[in-house]
Amino acid sequence: MGIDRKFLLCGLMFAIAGLCLGIYMAASRNHSEMPAHAHIMLVGFVFSFIYATIHRLWLPGITGKLKSIQFLLHQLGALSLAIGLLLLFSGHGNEDSLAPLLGTGAICVLLAMLAMTWMVARARTTT
Ligand code: HEM
Ligand code: HEM
Repeated sequence: MGIDRKFLLCGLMFAIAGLCLGIYMAASRNHSEMPAHAHIMLVGFVFSFIYATIHRLWLPGITGKLKSIQFLLHQLGALSLAIGLLLLFSGHGNEDSLAPLLGTGAICVLLAMLAMTWMVARARTTT
């Protein structure tokens, strides 16, 4: 399976999880998980969709290990952020105890963005 489709599938799975959480929040009239919902939708779904699109349009046929490393960094980072925020805003842990998970997740998401920027800047394409 191509890296673009992998990003798309992972993003769609984040979307399903984020939408379920959004519907639960709306139905229960308890919006305390809003930051988790927002980041699952935006970092998990929207960013993965953007990365899938970048691969499709600007990096077709790209080779090398960095594309797989970038994929793993983003997915693991988004998952860590999602789990950390869910735990934090459900009262299972505090900012200190969850700092390693949230901090690692945030750094992974940032590193993935830097890696994507590097790949796009170096890609030899006509567009
Ligand atoms: C079934 C669909 C959805 C439901 C039921 C839902 C539900 C909610 C609820 C209840 C809130 C809290 C609002 C508040 O307390 O002010 C919220 C916030 C938010 N949602 Fe959704 N949502 C849905 C889809 C989406 C989608 C598709 C996205 C983005 C791709 C999204 C992104 C956000 C963001 C960024 C916030 C935070 C907004 C802010 O900071 O004020 N949601 N959503
Ligand atoms: C990856 C590292 C990220 C970190 C550490 C981070 C951190 C935060 C923090 C601390 C807040 C305030 C939450 C609150 O006041 O309760 C926030 C809110 C928000 N962030 Fe992020 N963020 C990250 C990535 C992103 C990205 C990539 C997006 C968009 C694509 C985004 C969109 C938002 C939105 C829409 C809100 C307002 C929603 C709310 O109030 O819950 N964040 N973020």
